[in-house]
Amino acid sequence: MKTSSFLGGVLAIGLSSLNAIVAQDFASHGIYTEPVTGITFFASEETNGTITGDGEFSTVSWGGFTFGVALPPDALSRDTHEYIGLIIGSTPTGQGGWSGIVHGDDYSAGMPNHLMLLAWPTGNENQIATSFRYSPAYQYPVPYRGSANLTQIYSNVNETHWTLVYRCQNCLLFDDPAQDSFNASTSKGTFLQGWAQAYVPPTDPKNPLSDFEQHNNGMGEFVIQVQSATHVSYSDWATKTATGPIATGTTTATATISSIPVPTGDAYDYIVVGAGAGGIPMADKLSQSGASVLLIEKGFASSGRWGGTLRPENHWLDGTNLTWFDIPGECNRIWNGGTAGVVCTDTDQMAGCTLGGGTAVNAGLWWKPNPMDWDENFPAGWKSSDMAGATERVFSRIPGTDHPSMDGQRYLQSGYDVIADGLANAGWKYVTANDAPSEKNRTFAHAPHMFSGGERGGPMATYLVTANGRSNFHMWLNTSVERIQRDGGHATGLDVVAFNNGGRVGTVKLAPKGRVVLSAGAFGTPKLLFRSGIGPTDQLQVVKGSSDGDKMIAEKDWINLPVGYNLNDHLNTDTVISHQNVSYYDWPAAWLTPIPSDKDLYLSSRSGPLAQAAPNINPIMWEEITGPDGKVRSMQWQARVEGSNRIPNGISMTLSLYLGRGEVSKGRTTIQKGLNMLVSTIPYGDPNDLAACAQAIDNMVAILSKVPGLTWNLPAPGVSGADYLKSVELSYANVGSRRANHWMGTAKLGTDSGLTGGTSVVDTNTKVYGTDNIFVADASIFPGQVTTNPSALIVTASERAAELILALPV
Ligand SMILES: Cc1cc2nc3c(=O)[nH]c(=O)nc-3n(C[C@H](O)[C@H](O)[C@H](O)COP(=O)(O)OP(=O)(O)OC[C@H]3O[C@@H](n4cnc5c(N)ncnc54)[C@H](O)[C@@H]3O)c2cc1C
Ligand code: HEM
Repeated sequence: MKTSSFLGGVLAIGLSSLNAIVAQDFASHGIYTEPVTGITFFASEETNGTITGDGEFSTVSWGGFTFGVALPPDALSRDTHEYIGLIIGSTPTGQGGWSGIVHGDDYSAGMPNHLMLLAWPTGNENQIATSFRYSPAYQYPVPYRGSANLTQIYSNVNETHWTLVYRCQNCLLFDDPAQDSFNASTSKGTFLQGWAQAYVPPTDPKNPLSDFEQHNNGMGEFVIQVQSATHVSYSDWATKTATGPIATGTTTATATISSIPVPTGDAYDYIVVGAGAGGIPMADKLSQSGASVLLIEKGFASSGRWGGTLRPENHWLDGTNLTWFDIPGECNRIWNGGTAGVVCTDTDQMAGCTLGGGTAVNAGLWWKPNPMDWDENFPAGWKSSDMAGATERVFSRIPGTDHPSMDGQRYLQSGYDVIADGLANAGWKYVTANDAPSEKNRTFAHAPHMFSGGERGGPMATYLVTANGRSNFHMWLNTSVERIQRDGGHATGLDVVAFNNGGRVGTVKLAPKGRVVLSAGAFGTPKLLFRSGIGPTDQLQVVKGSSDGDKMIAEKDWINLPVGYNLNDHLNTDTVISHQNVSYYDWPAAWLTPIPSDKDLYLSSRSGPLAQAAPNINPIMWEEITGPDGKVRSMQWQARVEGSNRIPNGISMTLSLYLGRGEVSKGRTTIQKGLNMLVSTIPYGDPNDLAACAQAIDNMVAILSKVPGLTWNLPAPGVSGADYLKSVELSYANVGSRRANHWMGTAKLGTDSGLTGGTSVVDTNTKVYGTDNIFVADASIFPGQVTTNPSALIVTASERAAELILALPV
């Protein structure tokens, strides 16, 4: 056993002897005896360093961060729910800040759906406030109501660091009554803990229930080695009690949401649920027919055009019609502090729940569909020849541009130039991507974006504008649909509640021959189907046992369909290169302190870097690889000027490899007792998929190794693609770095009805099997993964679905 000394408030020696094995655990581990209490911990230390990028899975934290855990001696033979913890947090600005632990389980310590412990100095001598919270999504956590109990043993505060030693009972158990419960299984030998730190203090440090801001000083996960954490003296240590005062507090009263009752007597020909990539075009096309259409969106207005108000706190955008959603250079806000009120609060993955859905928060990459994406994945009626008209309609309205700055210049091209030279020398062909959508093998391009006029553009700036000009079109924002009311297979109306101030509450009726179209996204649509009694029985039973139970349709009317299966996403693998010619642009800083000349250029003429997507996405490259199973898989490489995985920003670029069409792996999304959605089976990892990715990595390494002055950081020189893939963990714990946020497939379109044992949830008219007026038009219907980022394909699929729905006899 190695015992380190305590120097200057942080563990000062490298604790390398017990270094952990998962890719996202960048900490040094070792055994540490806290000198005042004499308690010995298995410690995990993030060293003092400057945070780069968004700090995900940081190797460092400004001021450092240390977490220690001690476990009862029998923790290896029986699952313990308690531990003694040590937190050495940093307050590097001297102004306070918070540090947090995420109590993980055997396979993840991701932020969603785990017990969080936050702690911070109150400013009253050595007093530390602690607070249990949890969050079902990447959003502001709520107070935790499970049985966890914390007793402080020792606390100390100095100018730059603070220490807390505590006993945490029922903390390796998650039992908030609103959620499914589980526990970390210490008897398995390892489990995960997450960490996050912020150097901005909570708003009311003396109050443990204070509000606080998102972490800005690193985050990541630790693997806890149980054997190294157990100790025979545990019960003696556990009975020690604190000598100093403990902070107590009260919650700020939760504001009640104001709502407007659904008007009685109104009924609509069509109700579209969800104003994202699928829902907005659908509502426009349906309303064009003259039918009365109601579009219901749970989120608030995003773009300034629609009344959005989210602008920089220091007011530099005040007086303009621009919000963070409108400015291409601010598109990464969703990862850098811009989630409040914007991200979906009911899924463990990142998604936009605001007007525009994904098209409000994404990077706007906008690809004319590769015909093979229809021909290979979809049945008759959805082949590329069938989709030609829809594609033409979409791209005549949203053509996209690969030079979005209004002065026609391309800015910040240092990264693009380095890579493009290498590709051209290897014989790869430069294409104007949307002029040659099928050329996706050994080709590369400047990315086209849906941006127009130097602003985000897309469906919100086109389809929604024309829809809104019609008197038969209606839109309710801030209103969440809870379930479809149905009479057997016939929908009669929708139960809605206010999601934000001003939302509607009540039941909105469909006209007698009315129809409902679900466009709530790859997680939102299955959730609504489950709550409406449509899905696999195990999921409907979960809803039945939830707070929804007494409002749910009777079991005899349940429709058993494979909703939630067939989940897919581009498998992402990040690789990193460096080159002296590459230079980093600080996109996160452009929120509050944009470079003055860039700000002026943007505001005066919608030109310059801020008219382009953060963080310098370019070039995009494609290759087709045949896997060992003989199946051709499309690979898209997406380059950006930003480091990752321990390689700092500066001269580095991350090249993300997306495994697209041909991907065999499929996953599943399921619902929890709290009515939040989970990726319960990750859709990655088929051996042939991985073999194809390995080949793609080897090919790219070979090509770019010939660029003079270019260094491959990841994979490191000499490491094969296959070995590199083995080192990048493929698990739910690491889903944050393996996902591409291109989730789809959870209400699959196809001819093999799930009612009779097939895999499909909707027919080729996008109608849910077993119903006569419930349709789906969003990412959920895609049977398989596509070549490129999917939003333009989802808009195109929605155009096609509208055409088919309108053609059905009423
Ligand atoms: C951070 C990020 C970056 C991305 N970057 C790109 C990119 O650059 N290019 C690209 O092509 N794709 C990108 N994508 C993917 C793309 O945006 C999505 O695939 C696409 O938006 C999905 O379309 P959708 O219609 O299925 O769902 P969404 O666009 O997610 O729309 C669903 C809408 O339904 C609403 N909703 C959900 N439940 C309810 C309910 N119960 N009641 C009322 N409303 C509800 C939601 O609030 C949301 O507005 C990105 C995605 C993310 C998250
Ligand atoms: C204001 C509240 C918070 C917001 C809006 C927020 C938001 C986010 C976002 C957007 C990410 C993903 C970042 C990325 O992938 O690049 C993330 C990750 C993470 N957060 Fe938070 N967070 C908050 C509070 C907390 C707290 C209190 C803790 C711990 C006590 C925490 C722990 C983590 C951890 C460990 C990760 C990395 C693992 C993962 O991606 O799930 N967060 N957070």
